[in-house]
Amino acid sequence: MKITVVGAGAVGATCADNIARKELAKELVLLDIKEGFAEGKAMDMMQTAALLGFDTNIIGCTNDYAKTAGTDVAVITSGIPRKPGMTREELIGINAGIVKGVTENILKHSPNAIIVVISNPMDTMTYLALKSSGIPKNRIIGMGGILDSARFKYYLSKELNCSSNDLHGVVVGGHGDTTMIPLTRLATLNGLAISNLLDAAQLEKIAADTMIGGATLTGLLGTSAWYAPGAAGAALVESIIRDEKKVFPCCVSLDGEYGQSDICLGVPVVIGKNGWEKIIDYKLNETEQVAFNKSADAVRNMNQVLVEMKLV
Ligand code: 2OP
Repeated sequence: MKITVVGAGAVGATCADNIARKELAKELVLLDIKEGFAEGKAMDMMQTAALLGFDTNIIGCTNDYAKTAGTDVAVITSGIPRKPGMTREELIGINAGIVKGVTENILKHSPNAIIVVISNPMDTMTYLALKSSGIPKNRIIGMGGILDSARFKYYLSKELNCSSNDLHGVVVGGHGDTTMIPLTRLATLNGLAISNLLDAAQLEKIAADTMIGGATLTGLLGTSAWYAPGAAGAALVESIIRDEKKVFPCCVSLDGEYGQSDICLGVPVVIGKNGWEKIIDYKLNETEQVAFNKSADAVRNMNQVLVEMKLV
């Protein structure tokens, strides 16, 4: 198998590093537009092979899409990250043109590739990749909910003083500070609904902390996070490459599911070798559905900016 990560910045390089260590592909291409940057990061990662015991061959290149030919899964992380105080949505002016060009270049050399979109504003970038490429919708997957769910489990584990690996928790809707929806009602600690363990105020605080989890880190780091986003991207790629059929919340094209159409938004899906293979209906209650519809409206407004930019 062959995987390409476009963008050798902190998120892309971390995603590539995770992919290499998991040996998800014999060949892993890391591409960036900055001269020598991806080559340097690839070489540095390759020098960990003897220490970490992986056999992935990581090839760095500067904007040479010919080297990505035959890619099975491409991860798009290119574009600028947000700064403290910025929303993800404010990145659209710069990132939209980049993501459109990258998608076209990847598919020119790998027409059957599955595309994973991480660049922000991710829900709208996923919609852009879908609309501009015209490839089957199951091959376009936005990664945001996996990351947000990991943060949800982190905050739950801190409050419950338990292992985050014993928690199941899902975040649906947009990948935005105000558009994501941590489903506290459905979260469990090894099968026990957490509503038996935490009161309404605690659950509300955990949901609120989760929603600004990315912004909290950006405030601390001065730039967007990269360890968890990179690892979340690699977990998504792993379920594709190994056909694991994992159920992950991912940003996918909705055609009536969850009451929404002509939008890409985070819902639980089965991830396998064909990309996203099935949307799972978590039977949202009225309050959750209202929040989901509000999230969809906000993302749809961002998608409208693509029309004004004449990109779709
Ligand atoms: C985050 O939430 C980069 O959107 C990503 O950290």
